[in-house]
Amino acid sequence: MEATEAAVLASACGRRRTVRTFDASPLSPEAHELLETLASHDENPYGIPVELRLIDAKTYGATSRVIRGTTWYVVGSLSRCAHAEEAFGYAVERLILAATAHGLGTAWLAGTIDRPAFERAVGVDENRIMPAVIAVGTPAARMSALERVMRSKLHADERAPWDALFFRGDLAHPMSSPDELGPALAAALTCVRTAPSAQNLQPWCLVCSDRRIDLFEHRTLPLRPIGDVQLVDMGIAMLHLEAGLAQQGMCGTWSFDGPRANAGDPNSSTTYVATISF
Ligand SMILES: Cc1cc2nc3c(=O)[nH]c(=O)nc-3n(C[C@H](O)[C@H](O)[C@H](O)COP(=O)(O)O)c2cc1C
Repeated sequence: MEATEAAVLASACGRRRTVRTFDASPLSPEAHELLETLASHDENPYGIPVELRLIDAKTYGATSRVIRGTTWYVVGSLSRCAHAEEAFGYAVERLILAATAHGLGTAWLAGTIDRPAFERAVGVDENRIMPAVIAVGTPAARMSALERVMRSKLHADERAPWDALFFRGDLAHPMSSPDELGPALAAALTCVRTAPSAQNLQPWCLVCSDRRIDLFEHRTLPLRPIGDVQLVDMGIAMLHLEAGLAQQGMCGTWSFDGPRANAGDPNSSTTYVATISF
């Protein structure tokens, strides 16, 4: 990732929040063009093609019961294959952070949507999955009452403590504070900490060693026919981490042959996902 893009995306990490209430204005031609350009970029560490496009969902009779004031969505699908969810999470979050940097509001939506209608709009068949859709538009000045209740129930302004998410050397050694690593790495990890996740469950565990970070998924939601939604969260975390490191001048390379978590415990719900070296 180039330094200029990293700086834009990493600074958007702190400003992004899920927006469920939009101002009901039409999407401007500039926003339209921006989102279409962003949707045409599907780069991800797995090299899996992700087809994304901007739609006016009312044309397809598709809605979300939690969204007010926009009918515009970025929708997409990709092959049902290993790592599809992470690739989708990474590619779409890149779009979301760039859109945030331009003042647009966004909401990841995997559950609270009319899924059959969106899947028809996307043209999903048994060989492809549509892990989620993204509502887009101009944020309203005030949140709807429903959105306020949702944010409170999800503790959306809070994140798990550092020692539940970040580790040193292995998963047995939680980090009590980001200060253990120095300001540059702490800033990069803060980008991960602010990332969105399904139900705000933050399934990521990051193990920091010398110039490498191993990412593990701590899955707490059941698998569904569309796959593992928490692997989408892992792809999102990968993008936030890469942007956060690159902003600090640490250009990372992804690899996927890292350690197995809890190797002796076949029932463990913590599994290795990826490694970034820098
Ligand atoms: C993969 C994914 C799926 C999500 N699905 C939904 C959803 O179906 N409905 C919803 O209202 N929010 C959904 N969210 C938004 C999360 O609830 C939100 O990210 C979390 O509560 C943290 O709040 P924040 O994004 O404002 O920081 C989803 C987020 C992610 C990353």
